[in-house]
Amino acid sequence: MSILILGGTSDIGGEIARRLAPGEQVVLAARRVEALGELTAELETLGAAAVHPVQFEATDLGSHRAVVRQACDLAGPITCAVVAFGILGDQARAETDEAHAVEIATLDYTAQVSMLTVLADELRTQDLRSTIVAFSSIAGWRARRANYVYGSTKAGLDAFCQGLSDALHGSAVSLITARPGFVIGSMTTGMSPAPMSVYPGDVADAVVDRITTGRGSATLWIPGRLRLLAWIMRTVPRPLWRRMPR
Ligand SMILES: NC(=O)c1ccc[n+]([C@@H]2O[C@H](COP(=O)([O-])OP(=O)(O)OC[C@H]3O[C@@H](n4cnc5c(N)ncnc54)[C@H](OP(=O)(O)O)[C@@H]3O)[C@@H](O)[C@H]2O)c1
Repeated sequence: MSILILGGTSDIGGEIARRLAPGEQVVLAARRVEALGELTAELETLGAAAVHPVQFEATDLGSHRAVVRQACDLAGPITCAVVAFGILGDQARAETDEAHAVEIATLDYTAQVSMLTVLADELRTQDLRSTIVAFSSIAGWRARRANYVYGSTKAGLDAFCQGLSDALHGSAVSLITARPGFVIGSMTTGMSPAPMSVYPGDVADAVVDRITTGRGSATLWIPGRLRLLAWIMRTVPRPLWRRMPR
């Protein structure tokens, strides 16, 4: 198995790499390759066959196919690709600074769509069982006044992933669409945890369990009981919903 993590410095991507690395080729694609040293050493200690750093700037959409092909050249056919890059952004700033709103939309929607399209296309040609992992979020389930810019990108990405899963049905490639709730980590630094919060390791456990034991595409609420909260969220009247703190 060869693993490609797009967003090699991501908390969740790193935890997935730790769990899948033993015996495998790992490609860590990151915009700050200089920050990959610690994780690389750890993956090697865990028994990775090799760890390859690759320069990756997600907003450079024209580079996406070349990055995936470079990963294949370095590590062989990719059997698991994790799209783990993204930003939460600053909602307050995005409401008055359209460039920031577009930055969030570009990274969390457009670049995801671009990379997922490249991955689906490239992995299908390998004719080998493989898995792509994409990260939606509870934030996309029902857009909230408090984070609707980020939330809207996740809503769009989730819809894209549902369609892509159907397009991949019957092929050797499957897509895991992960829908975590609040994850306590770098992205949420300084925020107080929401109900049913999890850690990056919990997200990785759920995703890796599905990769190793499941077959076919799947959409995962993480934690699983978030599904019930999601159902309730849809029933909350608008005047109350718009007052949600985040
Ligand atoms: N954390 C949560 O609460 C949560 C909840 C639900 C879903 N998710 C989703 O899960 C995924 C992973 O999240 P995480 O918690 O692991 O986030 P994280 O630790 O903040 O990592 C984000 C990653 O994105 C990379 N990145 C940002 N801008 C980039 C760019 N222009 N080009 C290339 N890479 C770039 C970062 O690189 P640098 O290190 O260089 O900044 C970092 O590797 C994201 O899609 C996120 O939206 C997260």
